[in-house]
Amino acid sequence: MVLRLNNLWSLTIIAGLLPLLWLFIDIAFDNLGSNAIQALHIRLGDWSLRFLWLTLAITPVQTITKWRGMTDYRQLLGLYAFFYATLHLLAYLLLDHGLRWGIIGTDIIESSYIWFGILAYTIVFLLALSSPKWAKKRMGKTWKKLHRYIYVAAIAGILHYYWQLKGNLAEPLFYLILIFLLLGFRVAVWFKNRKFNKMMIPTSKRLVVVPINPIVIPETIAEPQEIIIKSLRKRAP
Ligand code: HEM
Repeated sequence: MVLRLNNLWSLTIIAGLLPLLWLFIDIAFDNLGSNAIQALHIRLGDWSLRFLWLTLAITPVQTITKWRGMTDYRQLLGLYAFFYATLHLLAYLLLDHGLRWGIIGTDIIESSYIWFGILAYTIVFLLALSSPKWAKKRMGKTWKKLHRYIYVAAIAGILHYYWQLKGNLAEPLFYLILIFLLLGFRVAVWFKNRKFNKMMIPTSKRLVVVPINPIVIPETIAEPQEIIIKSLRKRAP
């Protein structure tokens, strides 16, 4: 596959790999401090969480800009969240604990913050597994329902972060506010659409509303809602 640098898609792919490259450079130049394994583990966890909220930010940006092509970017960023979470988990299993399952088991039982990490990872794993287009087609409505769990993953990731912190809570708090703002946006759009649907469809009988005049003059392209309202007004006695 040839990457074209003037292409936003290729640039996003490269940008997603930069944190890893930066990490490799820090390892090569011994810049990770006295506890390099912990620093590496923490950096990977941080990037997974950052990609998670970036993924969540795509839908509001898409709603505001009406740029339909953003769905692919949401999938790509979500896969990066999964990628960094997997490296974070591997660092925990291999570097932190050298795959000593007894110690890992005890650590997981004793550290409740890891439970939230496992919950977040399980969701992100399932979302990544079901992300290809063919899986979306096959799963139908279940796909959308499953992918809404990304909010649960993000909140679990933040709780996992918050729980193990000993000092400054500013960063997890910032992420939490961000996630609630993004979630609030989705809920507001959902309410708006519901209200509009109620206005348009009488409860006694369902109507299929088709615009009477399908010709739209380019300079005055109206929102679909406006077209429907105008058509209904024309029909009214
Ligand atoms: C989507 C899943 C996950 C995300 C988003 C995530 C994110 C994070 C973040 C942001 C931190 C704190 C970094 C900091 O202090 O700046 C962290 C720490 C940690 N995570 Fe995760 N994590 C995930 C899954 C897991 C899993 C599955 C495990 C282990 C089974 C795990 C084990 C740990 C441990 C042990 C720490 C503490 C690191 C230390 O202070 O030494 N995480 N994680």
